Amino acid sequence: MTNQLPTSGAAGSWRSLPAAQQPPWPDPVLLREVTDGLSRAPELVFAEESDRLREKMAAVARGEAFLLQGGDCAETFEGTTADAINGKLRTLLQMAVALTYAASVPVVKVGRIAGQYAKPRSRPVERRDGVELPVYRGDAVNGLEFTAGSRVPDPRRLRRMYESSAATLNLVRAFTTGGLADLHQAHAWNRGFVDDSPAGRRYEELAGEIDRSLRFMAACGVDPQELRAVEFFASHEGLLLDYEEALTRTDDRTGLPYATSGHLLWIGERTRELDGAHVEYFSRIRNPIAVKLGPTATPDEALAYIERLNPQDEPGRLTFIVRMGAGQVRKRLPVLVEKVAANGASVAWVCDPMHGNTFEAASGHKTRRFEDILDEVEGFFEVHRALGTHAGGIHVELTGDDVTECIGGGDEVLVGDLHRRYETACDPRLNHRQSLELAFLVAEMLR
Ligand code: TRP
Ligand code: MN
Repeated sequence: MTNQLPTSGAAGSWRSLPAAQQPPWPDPVLLREVTDGLSRAPELVFAEESDRLREKMAAVARGEAFLLQGGDCAETFEGTTADAINGKLRTLLQMAVALTYAASVPVVKVGRIAGQYAKPRSRPVERRDGVELPVYRGDAVNGLEFTAGSRVPDPRRLRRMYESSAATLNLVRAFTTGGLADLHQAHAWNRGFVDDSPAGRRYEELAGEIDRSLRFMAACGVDPQELRAVEFFASHEGLLLDYEEALTRTDDRTGLPYATSGHLLWIGERTRELDGAHVEYFSRIRNPIAVKLGPTATPDEALAYIERLNPQDEPGRLTFIVRMGAGQVRKRLPVLVEKVAANGASVAWVCDPMHGNTFEAASGHKTRRFEDILDEVEGFFEVHRALGTHAGGIHVELTGDDVTECIGGGDEVLVGDLHRRYETACDPRLNHRQSLELAFLVAEMLR
């Protein structure tokens, strides 16, 4: 369903096509008011920054760098606190250090952050105890609370999405360039986390080794500026096209349109119709972009995305994020990779080991097993090794908090623990320890 208000220019070309997963906004006039406001608001990220990320993704596609992309399944307005953002950032930095150090490979750091407020859903309604209400579609659209009032889509939430994204980005920028991400602080990133876990201890050891290396370098008179900050990028699923269009800006260097709601946007598994509105919108923006591919994706579809979204075969422009499930990845991924490789196209391949491994526990909690997540990443690496292609990175749902949403891991969250701290607004996330542990295990695969 699309809304019928007119727009001009490349960013609005999606409007004549079927757009999946768009909320049934009850008040199109109010929607228009909000998006008009957003189209005059300052951009959240800059075209130059997206160009930088495109170059880094080109290195990923060539096998010269590894992508670490992670964050909440669904960010929430209430969850936009300094502590929560800090926790996620420190978790990602710790994972990045583990990967960089153990595998000696540059890590491209991208958050699922500062824009991940909208969710595609498998059903338009949710039923609880005989009551049926519209499904929660993310804080950008309606409220999580199971009441009729909260579930009505409210376009003013798009403005809040913009504001929450801006506040988050502000903290991210301060954190990653203002000295806190300095490698000399590697020990401090672990502070405040429950770290009496195998992964926590392993991290402490690693931070100690890094300290020694840094002191050695300093004693030799070497103190490169590169160690003092990180380049960190923001990404989200580009789901709500009214919002994305309103934040599309023409870059005055090149005259080309960029999504400025985030550096990298992806098309989800549920909105990747080749003649649909999402593919059309994404074909118009210059950002580095990704398409999620699930177990039903065919090699011909993969080639068609390349044709539609990266016709010039520009390195770094297009990434495929595959989410097959541990039981499917070894069967389904090889044909895709083979066909794309034979075509000679330069794409980066990234593994999302989360979304193909979700199931419902007896307690009713949606969960994932750590061992399935690990198994899917292993399968992903095996496929690329066998074909001589590059395992380009991982895309994970995580939080810095000590939640109990995914089961397993060295510190064993059990099915019976799920209720203790189950806080996600959507899918189950790895907690801090599970995230660190995964990073160490992936680092071993990379080595
Ligand atoms: N700037 C380098 C990089 O981004 C080194 C670095 C500084 C780093 N702080 C970091 C690496 C934190 C990982 C995590 O790779
Ligand atoms: Mn999710």
